[in-house]
Amino acid sequence: MAGEGPGHLAIIMDGNGRWAKDRGLPRALGHRAGVEALRRVVELCPAYQIRYLTVYAFSTENWKRPGAEVQALMALMDEFIDKELATLKKNGVSIRVLGDLASLASGLRKKIEAAVESTAENREMILSLALNYGGRQELLRGAKALAKRAQAGEDPEGWGEEDLARELYTGDMPDPDLLIRTGGEQRYSNFLLWQVAYTELWYTDTYWPDFGEERLVEALTAYRGRQRRFGGV
Ligand code: IPE
Ligand code: IPE
Ligand code: MG
Repeated sequence: MAGEGPGHLAIIMDGNGRWAKDRGLPRALGHRAGVEALRRVVELCPAYQIRYLTVYAFSTENWKRPGAEVQALMALMDEFIDKELATLKKNGVSIRVLGDLASLASGLRKKIEAAVESTAENREMILSLALNYGGRQELLRGAKALAKRAQAGEDPEGWGEEDLARELYTGDMPDPDLLIRTGGEQRYSNFLLWQVAYTELWYTDTYWPDFGEERLVEALTAYRGRQRRFGGV
């Protein structure tokens, strides 16, 4: 594969439910297979020089799903931390969370916070889990933080784009270079609305549980063949 990057890959991991339905399985088993796909992709990242991997795990709108499915998703996150933390630590992966953990069950919240804290110094790879994440919610939160700074006496006239960017969950991270969405839909579903301003997009009909190295290479090859102009010539 020729060329460089992406240093930061973002993924909308969609299609777990349909993957399960096609097999006559409950949706929860699709989500379980989705966790396996995530584990595979995390492991592939170093070989492709992907230093930042940001995945959409649960949106602020996913609370609309039946309670049992939400429960199954939360249980899988709990299990993912339990099963993967040691390996992630060993591989120098830093876990971060984008989103509001306040509405999660306190046991899960504490487990995630402990995982974030115990991996904070790792530098090989940054794995960001967008969990109870919404792009609009993130921007509103950033706007509120800026409003507080103005109340405290800062002059908004002095602010640039960086000031809002720093108030987002992604604060000190580079913007995604490539956004992959599996499962056939071609929309953002409220993911990283600010950060994708100049991100390259790549869609596939493949359902997330079937995503692996072959699809990843396809996406990276497409990315490396593109010319990013950022508004220039
Ligand atoms: C994505 O798969 C996983 C989450 C949203 C948590 P879906 O559950 O949305 O799968 P489909 O889109 O119904 O197939
Ligand atoms: C986006 O998928 C959210 C995640 C992958 C976590 P959805 O399945 O929720 O998106 P829509 O509803 O099809 O837009
Ligand atoms: Mg979906």
